[in-house]
Amino acid sequence: MPCTDVIIIGGGLSALVAAKKLSKHKNVIIFTKSTKTSSNSYMAQGGVAAAIGKDDDWSSHFKDTMAAGCHYNLSDQVRTLVQQGPAQIKQLMKEGLEFDQETGGSIALGKEGAHSRRRILHAGGDATGKAMTTFLLHQISDNVTIIEQEMAVDLITERGRCRGIKSIDKNGSVRHHFAEHTVIATGGVGSLYKFTSNHSSVIGDGIAMAYRAGVELVDLEFIQFHPTMLYQHGEVLGLVSEAVRGEGAFLVDEHGRKIMDNVHPLGDLAPRDVVAREIYNQIQQGIDVFLDISPVSNFSKRFPTIHRLCQEHDLNGSPLLPVIPGSHFLMGGIKTGKGGETSLPGLYAVGEAAWTGVHGANRIASNSLLEGIVFGDLTAENILSKAPSLLVNHPVFSNAQTFKGTLPEKDAIRWMMAEYAGVVRNQQGLTKLKKWLEEFFDPHGPITIDNRETAEKVNMLTVAWLITTSALARRESRGGHYRTDFPVSSTEWKNKRITRQLQKQAAVI
Ligand code: SIN
Repeated sequence: MPCTDVIIIGGGLSALVAAKKLSKHKNVIIFTKSTKTSSNSYMAQGGVAAAIGKDDDWSSHFKDTMAAGCHYNLSDQVRTLVQQGPAQIKQLMKEGLEFDQETGGSIALGKEGAHSRRRILHAGGDATGKAMTTFLLHQISDNVTIIEQEMAVDLITERGRCRGIKSIDKNGSVRHHFAEHTVIATGGVGSLYKFTSNHSSVIGDGIAMAYRAGVELVDLEFIQFHPTMLYQHGEVLGLVSEAVRGEGAFLVDEHGRKIMDNVHPLGDLAPRDVVAREIYNQIQQGIDVFLDISPVSNFSKRFPTIHRLCQEHDLNGSPLLPVIPGSHFLMGGIKTGKGGETSLPGLYAVGEAAWTGVHGANRIASNSLLEGIVFGDLTAENILSKAPSLLVNHPVFSNAQTFKGTLPEKDAIRWMMAEYAGVVRNQQGLTKLKKWLEEFFDPHGPITIDNRETAEKVNMLTVAWLITTSALARRESRGGHYRTDFPVSSTEWKNKRITRQLQKQAAVI
């Protein structure tokens, strides 16, 4: 049975950065369950934060990242991120990646919430993710095989090591692919929720797979809700970047009253959880909320993607854009070390699927593309430093039962998650959600899956259950995790993390 050097599951920015470095020395195959441009990275409007301005330095970026993360971040990892970030960005620029410039030719630096300086680089205005992923896809095109429409459904493990993946190809056939190293880069969990900024395919597949393989997970209760999703007729149309507020736009209620002035000293650029909660509370009271973009000069040029979105939905006649919060980013994930290594030898994780510890309880804007670049590179370096393992190339199949049973519709899961594990949570709602999820599957039992629809639903239920039970366990509020029954941060919980592993109780460490 052939064995590849490295399999990467998912095709976002961190996957491409890792693939680029690895492919100089190794055979790399990327599997993506949809297409190579169907990723959150590709959709990212916000830019990439890096201390490259004349008035800026890594220590200021470090301070802002730690403060936004409620000082719950791993400080060593944050230091790595903000110190290595600028050099990585400059290297990409040297290789030809173009970021937006001021008239005089210097790099244009934008401002976003909780950053004390202008330090956000953009490309194509609000199409930074598209520009960066397209650039990298072009760079790797000759050396990396990308297999689209093939979904990894489980990890193959043998004698305590990850040996590759089980997948379902575009014809629905089950396949097994063996690899010396396997990297999960499947993104976060945004589309577990009714309203989200994420691509619809982003439902926590990699996290569910890792859980089934007994890999350690951490901090799953910390989910960031973006305050401003463009909203019309009960549907979210897309993201309105925080950079729009960075350029002066402000939030008003349906009576034209500014809603953030008396809520937080930073007003409209307060931490995202604060802004999202305020909008959520207004909407709960039946009051509509709008983003007033009238102060933003040259809106259509500066934010072409959002402008086009508004045009497509006849929303460009007024400066008031209707908004609602939506799930945006998972701070927790598969627990990784400095080089992307997980608790299972041979398995690595990068990007939003990975927990590197850099985001703490709340990610500061535009640090996720940076994390993808820095930790994608470090993970590749780590893999390249490994001596070959003595692979035995024969398939090892689990004797778990094939999943049978009735599963809920995906939209039902999304509705329940938004209602009970969303912007605002409490014991009663989370308990109701946990019971509902457990009606459909046994989260502790081994499961094998042989069709794609079942795989996606089981993955959604698994990760929804992990988020719900982690949120129940954390009896306090901090960053992206807010409970009405424990509305303040507790010193007792300050340095505690909730880790999850199959067939083990949630552990507080
Ligand atoms: C935004 O542009 O508001 C989103 C960017 C990010 O979350 O980093």
